[in-house]
Amino acid sequence: MNPLAKELNETLSGSAMYELLAPYGRRFYFPKGIITQAAEAKQHAHKFDATVGLAVKNGEPLHLEEIASHFSGLSAGELFSYAPTPGDPKLRARWQQEMIKKNPKLEGKPVSQPLVVPGLTAGISILSDLFFDTGDELVVPDMFWGNYRLIFEGRKQSSLKRFTFFHGDGFNLDAMEAAVRESAKEHRTAEGAPKAAVVLNFPNNPTGYSPTNEEAVEIARRLTAIADEGVKLLVICDDAYFGLFYEDGTYTQSLFADLADAHPNLVAVKVDGATKEDFVWGFRLGFVTFGCAGSSPEQYQAIEKKLGGAVRAAVSNSSRPAQSLLLKALETPGYAEEKQAAFELLRDRYHAVRRMLEQHSLPNGVRALPFNSGYFMAFELENGGAENLRRKLLHEQGIGTISIEDRYLRVAFSGVDFEHIEELYRAIFQAMHDSA
Ligand SMILES: Cc1ncc(COP(=O)(O)O)c(C=O)c1O
Repeated sequence: MNPLAKELNETLSGSAMYELLAPYGRRFYFPKGIITQAAEAKQHAHKFDATVGLAVKNGEPLHLEEIASHFSGLSAGELFSYAPTPGDPKLRARWQQEMIKKNPKLEGKPVSQPLVVPGLTAGISILSDLFFDTGDELVVPDMFWGNYRLIFEGRKQSSLKRFTFFHGDGFNLDAMEAAVRESAKEHRTAEGAPKAAVVLNFPNNPTGYSPTNEEAVEIARRLTAIADEGVKLLVICDDAYFGLFYEDGTYTQSLFADLADAHPNLVAVKVDGATKEDFVWGFRLGFVTFGCAGSSPEQYQAIEKKLGGAVRAAVSNSSRPAQSLLLKALETPGYAEEKQAAFELLRDRYHAVRRMLEQHSLPNGVRALPFNSGYFMAFELENGGAENLRRKLLHEQGIGTISIEDRYLRVAFSGVDFEHIEELYRAIFQAMHDSA
């Protein structure tokens, strides 16, 4: 094993973070090659810097005016240079501050520094490299973002263990707990401890559901109890749609804030990012943050190094212009106001959907699944036929929706202007009645 990996493993030794690492994660380290030497040169090379593979003219990155002219307010360095592999340090610090503002329960809790990744997908995928191997398992609700299948089953040859998302109109706490317990019975760390991994994605894709305050407390309590029984537990909080909570009584913090210091056997990882939170889908900008009770600053640095190594091996580093633009925006006073206005715009659409559902009856065997947040809502068709319904809407009305397993129809109300929500839902209801 590489001596740097060995060193990191020694720092992490005895922790749940270490025990949960797959062989890939145990092998990984951040190399002291070009990247480290270039960083050293940045501090000490006061004459010439001939380290990185980047062209320089008069002290700034050589660049083409035809490209630079389309940006304003960013220097050539902020646009064209490579960002450090773990991300722009100022952006990382700023994102952490914002995270605490958005999740006051995180105040004073030691966590790792958010590490920049090129979007949440990359964050989850890199985590899957570090923590999953053939035969491992991830517990997911039966309503989950389909890309988990590609990442965990396709790339890692791990499996997804599904539990039923809803019990009545709420989150199925018992089913989640039972699935995690069963998974822990069947899986062990290399050291022989029972282990399990679960993903919590709220607001959820595809249902648009987030837990109530009471449910959030229970989710945290039950996962902590499992960890307390000796299970090494990885909890991935996929917070892609964080902040878009539309109802009173919905939990408005990430469960990461509760789990980050819940138990030394419980490793919480927050995967979040600017993609949807800041309406920059194509920028490819996400963050990964670890929290585990009892971890020392050195251990957090060690896990960041392993993560950084995995980023370096996969994509080298994330988009520099995207990081610079986000940092500028976060430092601009009008930004928060504008973001609030965008939130209100989506919330108005949500309420318009709610009104349509209140005012119209659905055919027998069709129901709207509970939803209170995010971009989506979904209908469940007890007797199937979601794919036919989708095609009917598409080919007869020119309306695009998503069918899932022929049983669910997902509608992204986020993608339709407020004034067209009524027309959209009238068409959906009509198509449902026509095909009933
Ligand atoms: C639940 C969930 N997680 C992660 C992502 C991926 O986000 P990104 O575009 O930043 O990779 C999505 C995007 O659709 C999503 O719905």
